[in-house]
Amino acid sequence: MRLLFAALTLICLLGSVALDTAAQEKKAPDKIKYAAKTGAVTFDHAQHVKAAKNDCKACHDKLFPQDKTAPLNYKAAMHKTAEAKKASCAGCHHPGGSTFEAKGNCAKCHVKGAKAGD
Ligand code: HEC
Ligand code: HEC
Ligand code: HEC
Repeated sequence: MRLLFAALTLICLLGSVALDTAAQEKKAPDKIKYAAKTGAVTFDHAQHVKAAKNDCKACHDKLFPQDKTAPLNYKAAMHKTAEAKKASCAGCHHPGGSTFEAKGNCAKCHVKGAKAGD
């Protein structure tokens, strides 16, 4: 009986490990750099995950797909279009949002002279 219980516990453990692995096929990036004429922007993915208390659903997939080659759709009209829709980075970075809006904060994201390849 004890042996059967141990075997069942092991099977459950193995099953949950397999599920976790399937959910994280792609590795979460540390940082992603976006090109912009006004200075490249470094998105610190790890820092953002921490700020979101590890809740991937704060962003995926409602704001972004898990794909760093997908367009962000954030840049139109100096970010005002996305802010009006609370879409993309403006899901949080908008006036009255959980963190700073674009206006007055360009330099917090855009590093003058930085290129995406740096
Ligand atoms: C604050 C928002 C945010 C949170 C929270 C977040 N991500 Fe992301 N993630 C992004 C953005 C932005 C991208 C890039 C999307 C783009 O460029 O179109 C991305 C891309 C990814 C990618 C694709 C990497 C590649 O190589 O293409 C993976 C995998 C990923 N995230 C996993 C996770 C996991 C796992 C979590 C939770 C632990 C998480 N993310 C939480 C914003 C977030
Ligand atoms: C789920 C909400 C959320 C989304 C979506 C989000 N951010 Fe943030 N972002 C934050 C919070 C909260 C902070 C402050 C983090 C802290 O205090 O550690 C922050 C901080 C930053 C900073 C750091 C500024 C500084 O002075 O240190 C940059 C740069 C930044 N975000 C860029 C982006 C970009 C680019 C995107 C879109 C790809 C994005 N964020 C999407 C919540 C978000
Ligand atoms: C929260 C971070 C953040 C803030 C704040 C921010 N930007 Fe951006 N900006 C980005 C990102 C990320 C991109 C690339 C977005 C994309 O591809 O959709 C971008 C793209 C742009 C572009 C397009 C550049 C090109 O080469 O096509 C312009 C112009 C721009 N931003 C201007 C501004 C101005 C002006 C401000 C201040 C009023 C500002 N941004 C504030 C993150 C930010």
